[in-house]
Amino acid sequence: MAQLWGGRFTKETDQLVYNFNASIDFDRKFYRQDIRGSIAHVKMLAKQGILTEEEGRQIVQGLEGILQDVESGKLEITSEYEDIHSFVEAVLIDRIGDAGKKLHTGRSRNDQVALDMKLYIRDELEETDALVKKLMTVLERLMEDNLHTYMPGFTHLQKAQPVTLAHHLGAYFEMFRRDRGRLGDIYERMNYCPLGSGALAGTTYPLDRAYTAELLDFYGPTDNSMDSVSDRDYVIELLAALSTIMMHLSRFCEEIITWNTNEYRFVEIDDAYSTGSSIMPQKKNPDIAELVRGKTGRVYGALMSLLTTMKGLPLAYNKDMQEDKELTFDALDTAKGCLALFTGMLDTMKFRRDVMEASAKNGFTNATDAADYLVGKGVPFRDAHGIVGRLVLACIEKNCALDDLSLEEYRSFSPVFDEDIYEAISMKTCVEKRITRGAPGASAMETVLAKNREYLAGQQPWERK
Ligand code: ARG
Repeated sequence: MAQLWGGRFTKETDQLVYNFNASIDFDRKFYRQDIRGSIAHVKMLAKQGILTEEEGRQIVQGLEGILQDVESGKLEITSEYEDIHSFVEAVLIDRIGDAGKKLHTGRSRNDQVALDMKLYIRDELEETDALVKKLMTVLERLMEDNLHTYMPGFTHLQKAQPVTLAHHLGAYFEMFRRDRGRLGDIYERMNYCPLGSGALAGTTYPLDRAYTAELLDFYGPTDNSMDSVSDRDYVIELLAALSTIMMHLSRFCEEIITWNTNEYRFVEIDDAYSTGSSIMPQKKNPDIAELVRGKTGRVYGALMSLLTTMKGLPLAYNKDMQEDKELTFDALDTAKGCLALFTGMLDTMKFRRDVMEASAKNGFTNATDAADYLVGKGVPFRDAHGIVGRLVLACIEKNCALDDLSLEEYRSFSPVFDEDIYEAISMKTCVEKRITRGAPGASAMETVLAKNREYLAGQQPWERK
């Protein structure tokens, strides 16, 4: 047992209590952030004359050495310490002696861990964002390639109206655009430095909190020390943003699983992203898509878990908050893994354009356009709806498409039908005439694609620094 306290205790901590309380097994993950925060803190202490220049220099050097040795594997973070903060401080004292004992001047583990978590999440926001952006780049390429790939658009999972693959994928582009927006928002809101808040009530040392904040690339210091040590809003926001990303991925996965079935055959998942069955030799299963869909629950669980942990917690720091870490690390690893896998799967997937187009043609997806045609000839929409409904029924009986009826047959339903009906309900017309902003017609899509390209060239808040 190696801990930073004990002066006021007369008994050893029970081993089970020690184990239950310790966090080293998971907070070792942010040794980098912990050391970076300590270096900034010590530089500030020296600048303020709270430590001598020499002490400051010695400590900073010691900390840099620890960082190097952990990175190179020379120094192992072992479970005998209570947490990562104790580990770093103990090694420092061991290496540089008395000066090391001054590292924790004007600081508490409460503001220290709040800082570590913020630094860690800031890095993770950036990494997650890069993965979402990569996925969007693949989407953008697929959209450019499929401006004229016709497919059925669905409502209620019933064929509704024809769209293009570019348009369908564009819906996901919008979802992920919002996801990136959320990641950027979180960064902007959380980017204030808690260090210097002490245990809860600040300190009596003349700290320069603005200086520490600047050294650590924050916009500035936080404004309330009690809030600073007990705020986990940004963790909750991150988990909510990750949950939304996972929700989007799982919807996309569900579609891919459906499209990959024998019944649809819209896509073929690459062999590298499929798995086989141990008993059925013919099987090629979409396991990756299913796993991504399945792992969504885990990330939602993390969000619910932390919301529940934080519920009803009185100010300021409470040990309950230590529970934020494992679930956040897991949610991040899960979401990042899913993003990377999904992107690879999408990038290598084959779209069967002919099957998609044939499917769009055989489900009466042009019925609305046939009704609109009649409206164009002066028939009130409600009557047109009825006429086309009867036409569809006739086609179902004949087992044919609207496009296959003869002009005589059309005219037996309404005399206003003319030769131009065929062109009016052709797949091409149905799609390409829909050119209001946001619609699937290629000319409308091109406006959006140009905007998307510009967007992908833009920057997130952390890149604008
Ligand atoms: N391991 C703790 C956490 O993750 C660090 C802060 C401990 N502070 C304390 N007063 N025990 O929240």
